Amino acid sequence: SDPDPLQDFCVADLDSAAGTNGFPCKPLAAVTSDDFFFDGLSTEGDTGNVIGSSVASANVLTFPALNTLGLSMNRVDVAPGGLNPPHSHPRASELILVVEGRLLVGFVGSAGNRFFSKVLGPGENFVVPKGLVHFQYNVGEVKAVAVTAFDSQLPGVVVAAPTLFGATPPIPDEVLAKAFQVDQKTVAMIKSKFER
Ligand code: GLV
Ligand code: MN
Repeated sequence: SDPDPLQDFCVADLDSAAGTNGFPCKPLAAVTSDDFFFDGLSTEGDTGNVIGSSVASANVLTFPALNTLGLSMNRVDVAPGGLNPPHSHPRASELILVVEGRLLVGFVGSAGNRFFSKVLGPGENFVVPKGLVHFQYNVGEVKAVAVTAFDSQLPGVVVAAPTLFGATPPIPDEVLAKAFQVDQKTVAMIKSKFER
């Protein structure tokens, strides 16, 4: 988790130029009840994309009252057959709660590449330890909704496929061809999917 707060709260002043580890606080006199309220996870995400999923975040950047509190939350919407693709969070463990539908959730551990997974229904939890690659895949007939909680105000996200195949500037084809043991044409084909 993030460092302990040194005061009750420190609603982030996102406009301040100072601050590398978290954000400076908004002046107390300017803080109101509205600062502690966030409705950004209340609406269904748009899953009409190639992967069939969408993630909305309540983190310090979207909800500045989370500054210094060491926690955040996402809403994950996944269409039937949709995937929240393999990714990791460098600064947080993730506690998943399925609210609706059925999701295959899993992660791979760093020792021996073991894959740990489970199909979850409504009300069921799965935990993903900090930094490990994980995904959620809708194996049901209907849309799925999950809520994920993190022990960081800004967990960060590294999505495996675009990190490797959509980097700017690009990672050389020969590096990826060697790493994935395929030819460079195959690498170029995959890269074309992640062009931005
Ligand atoms: C799901 O894995 C999420 O990061 O919200
Ligand atoms: Mn995640």
